[in-house]
Amino acid sequence: MNSVPNANSFSILFVCLGNICRSPAGEGLLQHSIDALEPQNRIEIDSAGTIGFHTGKPADHRMRSAALNRGVQLLSRSRKITIEDLHSFDLVIAMDRENLADIQRMTPEPTAELKLLSDFLGDDWPSDVPDPYYGGDDGFEYVLDMIEAACPSIINSISA
Ligand code: 4NP
Repeated sequence: MNSVPNANSFSILFVCLGNICRSPAGEGLLQHSIDALEPQNRIEIDSAGTIGFHTGKPADHRMRSAALNRGVQLLSRSRKITIEDLHSFDLVIAMDRENLADIQRMTPEPTAELKLLSDFLGDDWPSDVPDPYYGGDDGFEYVLDMIEAACPSIINSISA
């Protein structure tokens, strides 16, 4: 999704720091799950970063290749989150508590519901999706494991 979401559909924005690793994976994996479950879906999914440093870039090649190994192609281009996003999306899912705090500082009264990805997971998972950018391949796999585990609960929360 590359524009303002349609007001007639439910819209979800994943947010991380750079919008090249964790949030593109959230966007791609949730879209993949929804396409499989509900082909005529009315759910719009996008992602953004709290910094604009990587604006216009595709997702990190390590994340693209890890996602592709699980059958998911990541096609997003990095963009920085805007205040308008917090008034046009229904649900914003931050990857870690720092991302969430940065989003909360942007506007005092967002109309979007603000959540952490870990709000959709059990207590055996950590509160933050660890930033894989400076680490090895395991970090990318762990991010995908966390997002895959959260997807059913995100989908349930939309249909509830
Ligand atoms: P992301 O990972 O927030 O999951 O996209 C990062 C990407 C880039 C940087 C940090 C984290 N960076 O410092 O450039």
